[in-house]
Amino acid sequence: MSIKSRTKVREALVSGELEKEITVKGWVRTRRGNKNIAFIALNDGSTLNNIQVVADVPAFPEDLLRQVTTGACISVTGTLTPSMGSGQSVEIQAKSINLYGPADPATYPLQKKGHSLEFLREIAHLRPRTNTFGAILRLRHAMSYAIHKYFNDNGFYYLHTPIITGSDAEGAGEMFRVTTLDMMNPPRTEDGKINYREDFFGKETNLTVSGQLEGEIGALALSDVYTFGPTFRAENSNTPRHLAEFWMIEPEMAFYDIHDNMDLAEDFLKYLINYALEHCNEDLRFLNDMYDKELLSRLNSVINSDFVRITYTEAIDILSSSGVKFEFPTQWGADLQSEHERYLVEKHYKKPVIITGYPKTIKAFYMKQNDDGTTVRAMDVLFPRIGEIVGGSQREENLQALENRIEELGIPREELWWYLDTRRFGTAPHAGFGLGFERMMLFITGMSNIRDVIPFPRTPNNAEF
Ligand code: 4AD
Ligand code: MG
Repeated sequence: MSIKSRTKVREALVSGELEKEITVKGWVRTRRGNKNIAFIALNDGSTLNNIQVVADVPAFPEDLLRQVTTGACISVTGTLTPSMGSGQSVEIQAKSINLYGPADPATYPLQKKGHSLEFLREIAHLRPRTNTFGAILRLRHAMSYAIHKYFNDNGFYYLHTPIITGSDAEGAGEMFRVTTLDMMNPPRTEDGKINYREDFFGKETNLTVSGQLEGEIGALALSDVYTFGPTFRAENSNTPRHLAEFWMIEPEMAFYDIHDNMDLAEDFLKYLINYALEHCNEDLRFLNDMYDKELLSRLNSVINSDFVRITYTEAIDILSSSGVKFEFPTQWGADLQSEHERYLVEKHYKKPVIITGYPKTIKAFYMKQNDDGTTVRAMDVLFPRIGEIVGGSQREENLQALENRIEELGIPREELWWYLDTRRFGTAPHAGFGLGFERMMLFITGMSNIRDVIPFPRTPNNAEF
């Protein structure tokens, strides 16, 4: 469906319907020319490419053309003709131009090319009009579509897990509270604590850190489900790889063990990269040329490699005997830092690595314990330039073992009665993982800061727009 009165620039550029009269609408990227002829580069976001509009200056009111400057929004009706100039095969000979909205050259911030990414973050309301963010936003869309397509084609059902919850799925306590209580004068219990019974939901609630626990409910009824939604973490991490609000893809599968889980993650990640290479080649080539000359070769190398699978213990051995002086120590029991992950992927193996068998002390309560009593069936997928891109596990399906672990960690059981019921009634082995959508977008686009792969980043001290 497209509205009859308007042709998207993308269609106009490939249509081949020369000498036909069409109308295009969009934002002026540049205008150049002289007193006889004006060349207007028009972009409507449907593609990276602009369409060139050629206007015979004397044929238009002077006052109109004066306002056709960078950033202005116009509608142009004219004939599509073969272009004499280099860089485009067709152009529009303008018959009429209509100005929707001017953009004062004295104040419109996107005047010249080559603004820094830092500056563009400050004008996140205008950066979608740049080539870079146009490409990134189209890629984000394509990847979202590919995610749904992959799961749909493989018999998974999309489960809408809640955004507001009463539980802490990861047990890390990094939650944003949701409340309607008067912060100046909250109701108190007899012992002086805040009385959440009087809060909107009659209990303490927060924004979800993960849809996994509800995903498990779905898997134990529909077999294969996934959720893809926003998740929130109040971790004070000001890094190029952390957001306070990010999107996560979480499949959850009944009757999968940790090996099936790894196979699915590897297949899924390769599918997404393939999809981008096949469907978004123009935008990827642009990002490759502008930001990261190794982007395309890196994407191709990952789809063509078998991911290495090692245990945490093996990873620690490799790191300890590497002779490299890391900032953080690498003794058994300590969590792997980004520097360790990247060493394994970029220096040691030179391909993606999946690590399993982490110490239970550094992983969440729901992971299936191995017989050794110290490690769990966790898996982290590590990617070049990114480090951890996927985190997942086989889940503890045994009620007694799960209850013991919850007890050991001192997690309040009342919050999880429904979760424990899944183990009480018809429990089954199952597994799943979470892919951080923006970490994936970092990898796909070759950008280096996660703030540049989401339209409106939320990070400590920043919730503008
Ligand atoms: O490893 P995480 O914390 O795992 C979970 O939340 C599980 N419940 C997933 C599951 O098994 N269903 O997070 C999963 C992924 C990470 O590997 C990372 O890619 C991303 O989510 N992630 C973040 N991305 C951006 N900013 C943050 N603050 C992130 N925290 C995690
Ligand atoms: Mg993790």
